[in-house]
Amino acid sequence: MRITVNVNGDDHTREVEPRHLLVRFLRDDLELTGTHWGCDTSNCGTCVVLMDGDPVKSCTVLAVMAAGHEIRTVEDLADGDQLDPVQQGFIEQHGLQCGFCTPGMMLTGRALLDRNPDPSEQEIREAISGQLCRCTGYLNIVKSIQWAARNRAEADGVTETAGSQS
Ligand code: FES
Ligand code: FES
Repeated sequence: MRITVNVNGDDHTREVEPRHLLVRFLRDDLELTGTHWGCDTSNCGTCVVLMDGDPVKSCTVLAVMAAGHEIRTVEDLADGDQLDPVQQGFIEQHGLQCGFCTPGMMLTGRALLDRNPDPSEQEIREAISGQLCRCTGYLNIVKSIQWAARNRAEADGVTETAGSQS
């Protein structure tokens, strides 16, 4: 099947099999390997990307289902050298840890803050509840998203001010 998917603002047209997964489309066809693949059972959430602004597990979405939709991956979070506040928060609050679940966690954090700029800790924990950190734990990840929420108003100058915010 011939499909066109908008990924990170650009249209990409490819021939794909109907069973082709979105995660494979992103990683193998478009070489956007920032989207990780951590299980075969739709449990870990490390493959999360945004589809029309909502987090989805790209291992559970067929590429053909994404045709005509807007997909956003971790490669699109930064604006040039300007990190998204969520990315900066993960640096400031040591949310990276092993880094494997990080792309999906950051995209879920971005989607949460887009619809709720001032979430409670419980709301953050609920938002990331579909994603597993298998190495350390969630405390620093939650603190990273909280940092991004606190600093959202300073987004334009976040890299300059980040060192004094932790
Ligand atoms: S790779 Fe584990 S839920 Fe998608
Ligand atoms: S930071 Fe390592 S799995 Fe989450």
